[in-house]
Amino acid sequence: MKNGKMKAVLVGLGFGGAFVPIWNDHPDVYAFGICDLDAGRAEEFAKNYPDVQIYRDLDMVLSDESVDAVHLVTCIPDHAGQTVAVLNAGKHCACTVPMATSLEDIRAIFQAVRKSGKKYMMMETTLYTYQYFYVKQMLESGEMGKLQFMRGSHYQDMENWPRYWNGLPPFWYGTHAIAPLIGLSGSRVDRVSCLGSGTMRTDLMKTYGNPFPVETAHLHFANGLAAETTRSLFETARIYKEGLAVFGSHKSFEWGFADWDNPIVTTLDNDAEVAGRGLPTRCEVVEMPNYYSDLPEALWKYTVGGQYDATNPQESLKKGAGAGHHGSHSHLVNEFVRSIIDDRKPWIDEVFAANITAAGICAHESALRDGEWVTVPEF
Ligand SMILES: NC(=O)c1ccc[n+]([C@@H]2O[C@H](COP(=O)([O-])OP(=O)(O)OC[C@H]3O[C@@H](n4cnc5c(N)ncnc54)[C@H](O)[C@@H]3O)[C@@H](O)[C@H]2O)c1
Repeated sequence: MKNGKMKAVLVGLGFGGAFVPIWNDHPDVYAFGICDLDAGRAEEFAKNYPDVQIYRDLDMVLSDESVDAVHLVTCIPDHAGQTVAVLNAGKHCACTVPMATSLEDIRAIFQAVRKSGKKYMMMETTLYTYQYFYVKQMLESGEMGKLQFMRGSHYQDMENWPRYWNGLPPFWYGTHAIAPLIGLSGSRVDRVSCLGSGTMRTDLMKTYGNPFPVETAHLHFANGLAAETTRSLFETARIYKEGLAVFGSHKSFEWGFADWDNPIVTTLDNDAEVAGRGLPTRCEVVEMPNYYSDLPEALWKYTVGGQYDATNPQESLKKGAGAGHHGSHSHLVNEFVRSIIDDRKPWIDEVFAANITAAGICAHESALRDGEWVTVPEF
């Protein structure tokens, strides 16, 4: 740290490339580096960001004592091992999803966090989307009434993605379909029952031995709530969506059909004189506000895609497409940075991340046991 500011390195510049400008412009980051095994990829980025330092590999990053924090956006099977290595090197670690693909690896990350005293954050995009902010505000203001039920989904065909995706058990990457449900529940998932559905081509079963292209689960929360969630990964014709539905006693929120469609809010008129059967309902398609104002001003422009008008960040969202993953990227970086500067836990710390990730790991285990309830360990 230097004068209350930090030095960070971003590792993995595929999807990770989307975070380069955000890290580069964060006002609490005095120096920023990038690292990719594909040197050409890093050099390409450096052309537009002449001040960034290029690191050849993760070892080079870990042996640089001036680096305070590392953001990993590398391949799924490497997340846990690399996270432990970063923490053991005495650096704060942010990692893209999922945290790990086994309960043992989650435990190893816990141990490394305890031993190092450093921060860990899972960079779960769904928890900082326009939609999540919107529905959270509706719940917290009391507008929705009692929270009665939630439904999550992540439909995405992953054919021809990098090799480690081939045949992945759907709920090993179930974080987008699970995280918002836990975040809004105010509780933790304590048990899960899941069924696998459909059949997989044999070539897709080679790496992980997973027979299911789709998994669908019931989550039980410690506070008694229940939710339903579905993840499809292969051989299933469905347009991409990381969706969320939240049903309250007064209002409900449902994501549109496709990922980029505006949500629908249903209002139940609890005060109506009941003439016939059931209370009257009203539905409206709602536009999402842009939640930019809690961010440093230098990052406001990254909450929208397309053209940005500095005099009106809200209108900028209406004019152009939303930024990647519904405006979440800059919030993620800012939360991680501020947790370090303010010396507090980030919101998606190892405890929250473990519940999200373990619920998915246990869901797949349940699917392999024909829907048997599986207890999600409390870390
Ligand atoms: N919404 C989200 O949160 C979201 C979206 C997309 C991807 N992801 C996650 O991001 C990760 C990366 O996805 P991707 O599509 O970019 O994957 P990818 O395999 O296409 O790219 C990974 C990049 O990391 C580099 N890399 C791998 N290991 C490295 C190492 N040890 N040191 C330096 N560089 C290394 C590779 O060279 C490559 O450029 C995945 O784990 C995926 O789960 C999350």
